[in-house]
Amino acid sequence: MASHPVRIAPSVLAANFGRLTDDVAAADAAGAHYLHFDVMDGHFVPNLSFGPAVIRSVRSASARPFDVHLMVTEPVRHLDLFLTSGGDLFTIHAEACADVGKTVEALRSAKKRVGLAIKPGTPAATIVPHLPRLDLALVMTVEPGWGGQAFMPEMLEKVRLLRRAIDEAGLDVRLQVDGGINADTAVAAAAAGADVLVAGSSVFAPCQEVAAALGSLRQALMQAGFAVAPVA
Ligand code: DX5
Ligand code: ZN
Repeated sequence: MASHPVRIAPSVLAANFGRLTDDVAAADAAGAHYLHFDVMDGHFVPNLSFGPAVIRSVRSASARPFDVHLMVTEPVRHLDLFLTSGGDLFTIHAEACADVGKTVEALRSAKKRVGLAIKPGTPAATIVPHLPRLDLALVMTVEPGWGGQAFMPEMLEKVRLLRRAIDEAGLDVRLQVDGGINADTAVAAAAAGADVLVAGSSVFAPCQEVAAALGSLRQALMQAGFAVAPVA
């Protein structure tokens, strides 16, 4: 079994946008390792969410790294806008870029951490050649576009493949899953080798405090024998 310490990235897509600063601060105080921001352009995915101004407006609410998931066609067109938004790590979609390598390099040369994501229909092999230039690989475990969807267990095979590729090459690349993560699927994803778990609706559930929800996720992982990384 992979023994990579696990990190949790609450997705603010499921937060209350009317009090986003408070929800970001609550996730930070509850021990979130990253804050995950889902940017949707109504083109790469049918839904629209928010852009760099919203990210910038909550930057001061947390010192944790901001993990910005760009569900945007040709994100290279918008990088200048995002680079000043306070994001630390930018994840682009392989399917959204005419030239993935060039987009990765544009982010690297701006001294940002870079992730590369794949949708459920895209093979893991699409990511493998880029791994040496990445900080993070993201296997979507739902179709991107909406929170609250059911986890697709068949994506775990891609997680296992990428875990092997990362470890065999001795790379320092985080392996993230996003979509349908709750206490049960978190354990399944960690067992497959994921070490960053994005969780939206299971963390910002209206019936539960953020701290309690994050605590349940952490406890499920630890009970299953996984180490949860200390918050740096
Ligand atoms: C989906 C987004 C996810 C979403 C996850 O397109 O990328 O980050 O917020 O939400 P849950 O955890 O509710 O599936
Ligand atoms: Zn996301």
